[in-house]
This record gives sequence, structure tokens and C-alpha cells, in this order.
Amino acid sequence: MDYWHLTRKCLLLAAFLTAEGESFSAENKPLDFDRDVRPILEKHCYECHNEKKHKGDLNLVAFDTLEKVHSAQETWQTILERVQAFEMPPEGKNELSFDSQGKLVRWLKTLPKPENTISSTPVLVESQVSDAVPR
Ligand code: HEC
Repeated sequence: MDYWHLTRKCLLLAAFLTAEGESFSAENKPLDFDRDVRPILEKHCYECHNEKKHKGDLNLVAFDTLEKVHSAQETWQTILERVQAFEMPPEGKNELSFDSQGKLVRWLKTLPKPENTISSTPVLVESQVSDAVPR
């Protein structure tokens, strides 16, 4: 890499770091269940996955808090798979925009995976529990 390329890179980086534009921060902000995710589910999933109409035996409206989401890891793993594979919502039915699909998948991937909690991080889980619940 020559000097000009390096300089240009630094300038770009500096511009990037100082920019506090909406798009920059929005892209990197951790997604929030209530603010970012539930509105997408509400718009694109609730019509088929609610109390009365729970297609595939899935009622998404019931998941109104992040705690409930975290206590149903298997379900949300399936949701990740179906959304990531563009299988949900079904083709032609209120499909997700590219943006919403990406957001949803990005968030779904941050959820704890069922197998992780069982085998690969037992120590971490234990210490988190004892930290959170002093006895
Ligand atoms: C137009 C109706 C409709 C919409 C909208 C819809 N679904 Fe579904 N969904 C279905 C039907 C029908 C099934 C059952 C058949 C199947 O599994 O493909 C299903 C099944 C599923 C399953 C599988 C459940 C299981 O345990 O097997 C998941 C997960 C799912 N949907 C998630 C979603 C998510 C997330 C959204 C929104 C992004 C969504 N669906 C939007 C109709 C819908």
C-alpha cells in the first residue's frame, strides 16, 4: 500500500469516526426488542401467529417481553431459521423488506442458542446466575 492510499484510508477513518450521522449510529446500535423488533413482528407476523390464529402452533403475540423470549430458546431458534431462509412470512404474504429482514435476523442471532446454555458455557452460566441472585 502506498502513502496516498494510507492517507486516504486515515482520512476516511477519521471522517467515519467523527461522523455522528443517524445512519452510522443506527447501523451499529444494539437492537432493542421493544423498539426495533416487536414492531416488525407486529407488522409481519402477528396476523398469522396470534392467540386465535396460531399457524404452526406458534403464537408470537404472547412474547411481549424479552424475558419470555429468552425462556423459549428453541422456539426462537426455529424462528431464526425460518426468517433467515426467507420462509417466514410466507411468500407473497406481507413480506419483510430487505431492511427489516436483515434487522430481524441480526437480532435473532444475538439470542442465546439452546445448545450453548446446555453444554458449551456451563461455567459462564453458573457465575451469571450466582452474580444475579445473591443468596
Ligand atoms: C400469512 C400467514 C403467515 C405470516 C404472515 C407468518 N407466518 Fe409463520 N407460519 C404460517 C404457517 C401457515 C405456518 C405453518 C406451516 C409452516 O411451518 O410452514 C407457519 C409456521 C411458522 C413457524 C414454524 C413453527 C414451528 O415450530 O414449526 C415459524 C417459526 C414461523 N411461522 C415464524 C414466523 C415469523 C417470525 C413471521 C414474521 C416474520 C411469520 N411466521 C409470519 C403462516 C404465517
